[in-house]
Amino acid sequence: MSALGSAGRLFLFARSSVGLTLRRRSTAAALAQNAPPESQENRKPKTGILMLNMGGPEKLEDVHDFLLRLFMDTDLMKLPVQNRLGPFIAKRRTPKIQEQYSKIGGGSPIKHWTSMQGEGMVKLLDETSPDTAPHKFYIGFRYVNPLTEEAIEEMEKDGVERAVAFTQYPQYSCSTTGSSLNAIYRYYRNRGERPKMRWSVIDRWPTHPLLVECFAEHIRKELLKFPEDKREDVVILFSAHSLPMAVVNRGDPYPQEVGATVQRVMERLGHCNPYRLVWQSRVGPMAWLGPQTDEVIKGLSERGKKNLLLVPIAFTSDHIETLHELDIEYAQVLAEECGVENIRRAESLNGNPLFMKALADLVQSHLKSNESCSRQLTLRCPLCTNPTCGETKAFFASQKLP
Ligand code: FES
Repeated sequence: MSALGSAGRLFLFARSSVGLTLRRRSTAAALAQNAPPESQENRKPKTGILMLNMGGPEKLEDVHDFLLRLFMDTDLMKLPVQNRLGPFIAKRRTPKIQEQYSKIGGGSPIKHWTSMQGEGMVKLLDETSPDTAPHKFYIGFRYVNPLTEEAIEEMEKDGVERAVAFTQYPQYSCSTTGSSLNAIYRYYRNRGERPKMRWSVIDRWPTHPLLVECFAEHIRKELLKFPEDKREDVVILFSAHSLPMAVVNRGDPYPQEVGATVQRVMERLGHCNPYRLVWQSRVGPMAWLGPQTDEVIKGLSERGKKNLLLVPIAFTSDHIETLHELDIEYAQVLAEECGVENIRRAESLNGNPLFMKALADLVQSHLKSNESCSRQLTLRCPLCTNPTCGETKAFFASQKLP
């Protein structure tokens, strides 16, 4: 989707098991701390956490294949004669998207940030959740290496017992998380095999308290960088990737879940400033969910609101929509055209240790809950016409957990 636009439960332990748990925890923590990185990498993981995302091209020469996979993804979009039109559009858009990536350092930083977040997450999990240790994270990207299918193969080869499909999109959309989950289901269906691992899924986490705190922390920090006499005047613009209205109107939960994150963050901030939820990255002639971020910047400026703070609210790492679309197209070019006085962008969550704690907490609570997926995942969009969605939901809902 992204390259389209610009391209506890509380556990009750018996007294004796508390001591045992503490001992095992300290042993696991000591092992995790003392073992050299190689041995952590090579040990047999009990729990594998598959971090799902669309990914982004690391190098300019990866852009074409990234776009090709994206435009061929029928869970993301349906095109007429897709097997011919998809490759045609991918080829035509490659030079423009390569130019954008060249302006942000030659490639997407998403694998770098996901690896750092995964490392922080499993280190914490090994310390806090010895019963499910050792933990290992895997990256499953939808459109670039390491692809979801390759990651599943590696997990099966590693002999993982318990597999968690962990979406890295806090808010669920059938275009993003749904597409990744369909890819996991298809992996097994196409091979005619049943998984050796027991799967469950963390399919959404829009209002997790630590996620909310991370966003609030980054907003507070950025607000302090505005001139003191302008700070109260700053309008906070939460910007999320838009969706075609055809997707919204079939009942996709994404707009409501993004709104839920925004609401919690503003509550956490004590409603310190006025704000709006806006949508970016629209492309093509179809109707998309608005208001569009660029039009809002222009409209507010025309109405005398010239101090703006952009907050990427639906992606947790930097990517082309933050580094190019928000930072260059809007905060530099557009803002100057519109006469905006001060415009800043809140830092993405990237390497924030509190965010790694949020990820670890989500996995730990999920493993303790023994639930294969959320109740919400079991419901198809009311106007869904993709039969794979139903099969995928049944696949995850039927996983037998101990
Ligand atoms: S498109 Fe939403 S469940 Fe199929």
